[in-house]
Amino acid sequence: MATQLTWLGHGTWLVETTGYRVLLDPFLDENPAAPCKAADVQADFILVSHGHFDHTADVESIARRCDALVIATFEVCEWFAKRGLRTHAQNIGGACRHPFGRVKLTIAHHSSTMPDGAPGGDPAGFLLELPEGRVYFACDTGLFGDMQGIGRGGLALAVLPIGDTYTMGPEDALEAVKLLAPRRVVPAHYNTWPPIAQDAQAWAQRVRGQTPAEPIVLAPGEKLLL
Ligand code: NI
Ligand code: MN
Repeated sequence: MATQLTWLGHGTWLVETTGYRVLLDPFLDENPAAPCKAADVQADFILVSHGHFDHTADVESIARRCDALVIATFEVCEWFAKRGLRTHAQNIGGACRHPFGRVKLTIAHHSSTMPDGAPGGDPAGFLLELPEGRVYFACDTGLFGDMQGIGRGGLALAVLPIGDTYTMGPEDALEAVKLLAPRRVVPAHYNTWPPIAQDAQAWAQRVRGQTPAEPIVLAPGEKLLL
């Protein structure tokens, strides 16, 4: 079956691939834009990009209920391991083959405090190698020139924040598309709250006009076939 990505609002994604459910940055119960609650989601693996509550809030409840393996940086894994979760630590630049595909942690320019104030190490993005191609989740980051290197070798899809204020905004995300040169690009991390309100359709128009990438704007709960 083809790999399917579902946007669960904000930075939360469900990737269903090769029979596994891989959840990214679950933030559902307290997310005003989420299409479902944490209790509605099943996961075999949970990728966590950094410690902020809007990326970690529902990790513990879902991982516990589903016995999911948490994949993140060392510091984020230590924090969840202390709470009794199964974890697999990697770090920036490190790749590892998991049952659903290869996962590499990429740099992200952001911060990473855990919800209780503990330091969460460096924030990360994720580069996944899936049967249909490589998928890059920038997660929370500002624009950086090394995105060109991440795009080298080809990207089937890039998922970029466009919310501004806390991450790249529309202008810089457009530059990111030029550096990454993905086949398709999806915006995320916007419209959850007023400070990150954005017109995603207007951004998609600019992507279409200025790059060869195909922009795809999803509503929370919508799916994309890879
Ligand atoms: Ni953040
Ligand atoms: Mn965030």
